[in-house]
Amino acid sequence: MSSQGSKRVAIIGGDGIGPEVMESALAVLKAVGAEIEEVPVEIGFGKWKHTGSAMTDKDLELIKDCRCVLFGAITTPPDANYRSVLLRLRKELDLYANIRPFSKRGLDLIIVRENTEGLYSDLEEVGDEEARTIRVITRTGSKRIAEKACELAASRRRLTIVHKANVLRSDRLFLNTCREVAEDRAIPYDDMLVDAAAYYLVVHPEKFDVLVTTNLFGDILSDEAAGVIGSLGLCASANLGERYALFEPIHGSAPDIAGKGLANPIGAIRSAAMMMDWLGEVEVARRIEEAVVRSIDNGTTTHDIGGSCTTLKVTEAIVSHLQSWS
Ligand code: IPM
Ligand code: MG
Repeated sequence: MSSQGSKRVAIIGGDGIGPEVMESALAVLKAVGAEIEEVPVEIGFGKWKHTGSAMTDKDLELIKDCRCVLFGAITTPPDANYRSVLLRLRKELDLYANIRPFSKRGLDLIIVRENTEGLYSDLEEVGDEEARTIRVITRTGSKRIAEKACELAASRRRLTIVHKANVLRSDRLFLNTCREVAEDRAIPYDDMLVDAAAYYLVVHPEKFDVLVTTNLFGDILSDEAAGVIGSLGLCASANLGERYALFEPIHGSAPDIAGKGLANPIGAIRSAAMMMDWLGEVEVARRIEEAVVRSIDNGTTTHDIGGSCTTLKVTEAIVSHLQSWS
């Protein structure tokens, strides 16, 4: 069944602070007059507790009948054989490109993380004395992530290919494929070893523009970049495939602060903005981002970035900026 063109959005609050920050994102979408059809889907730890399954085939069908997904956060059920629900969703929907923008005054970079292979291949042999995970790098996978990164870099300054090709032969394939794509498309590029990139991201983050890298390196560097701009709570992401897309804050479910009104809703709100942009509502996305920046500049902030406001207070401030402009 095709939902192309429609604005049916699967709404997955999930666990921990997920539902709280989702509520904020939905309030902002409402304030900005976003025309989407919300389709709530319950998956995650909570669902596993009362049904024994974190995500059923039926849930997946419901999700696949939507245009895209707006996602809060999920706690992985404490069953050793249980694969993360989020990883399963990324695989099932073939969301191969994880786009993570990081911005604050004087800093604006994007990490483009390959999202379906690398060390997240799920090919593991686990024994008592030895355990192995197979790192899968394919030309096809490297090519499509490089193409996505080049698309973004085309309207910006430069692409940096981040790898460990001096040690990992699998990364030579990644590096060479990315180079070929960048050359074909005449995108200015350079490359950097991942350890050096980790260092420069702290000492000279402003030198980076668009970074493209493999799955685990992208996972680690994006938490680091979040630290550089101030907090994981500020950061959003888009998981894109050819057909579907899933938008999520890059923070997790943070059960320790759940229900206390402490969560920073900005990562989720910015994810909603990225979704609107992807749905073609570029102006709506721009207005949300402007309201977010305004509320940060006014000092209406949660604890993670030095403020003392609650999730609700921050959300209300952003909503009222949006309403005052309309
Ligand atoms: C992220 C998260 C996930 C990942 C976890 C929850 C499986 O850390 O989105 O960065 O490793 O990709
Ligand atoms: Mg991560």
